[in-house]
Amino acid sequence: MSKASWKPSNLLYPVPAVMVSCARPGERPNIITVAWTGTVCSEPPMLSVSITPKRFSHDIIRDTGEFVVNLTTEKLVRAADFCGVRSGRDTDKFVAAGLTPEAAPHLSAAPAILESPVSLECRVKEIIPLGSHDLFLGEIVGVLVDESFLDGKGRLALEKTGPAVYSHGFYYRLGKELGRYGFSVKKK
Ligand SMILES: Cc1cc2nc3c(=O)[nH]c(=O)nc-3n(C[C@H](O)[C@H](O)[C@H](O)COP(=O)(O)O)c2cc1C
Repeated sequence: MSKASWKPSNLLYPVPAVMVSCARPGERPNIITVAWTGTVCSEPPMLSVSITPKRFSHDIIRDTGEFVVNLTTEKLVRAADFCGVRSGRDTDKFVAAGLTPEAAPHLSAAPAILESPVSLECRVKEIIPLGSHDLFLGEIVGVLVDESFLDGKGRLALEKTGPAVYSHGFYYRLGKELGRYGFSVKKK
């Protein structure tokens, strides 16, 4: 096997393409699609989203110190793409994408997206300028889960939501299950 050596670039794929909702108090809420996102800490639960300063949402999240990360599914992928190619400066993306803002109980103004099966309410802990993007470190202060995806034991059947991923310019539906956490060392 031989590997070509390329110049440095981002090829860490697949990733989620989440819909991040935000709002200034009393103003129209907005949604920005973000692929540069990740879980960064278990306790306290924290995640990051990286946003270019020129985005309309950037200043809203910086100024309000809060945002909601909404998971994207197969059903929501068209809306997620739309929210990633149109700006809230001139478009009401909730209306245009047919999405519904839902109050996020732990935040002041940023709404969750009702149609998303899982919404993570976040408070900004730190903003780290990195270059093209500013990294927003968010502490997850509340989680909203669509109850229709809970099984009899209260476990979230995330696989049933039809999770979507983004890889190198394309969206995909999550595929076949290959194993469960720790299966490689489990006795048969
Ligand atoms: C799949 C996808 C992923 C994106 N990921 C990011 C991202 O991680 N950070 C970012 O700043 N913009 C990202 N964008 C671009 C913004 O979503 C886009 O510029 C959007 O129109 C900004 O909306 P706003 O101006 O209303 O804030 C992405 C777009 C798409 C389609």
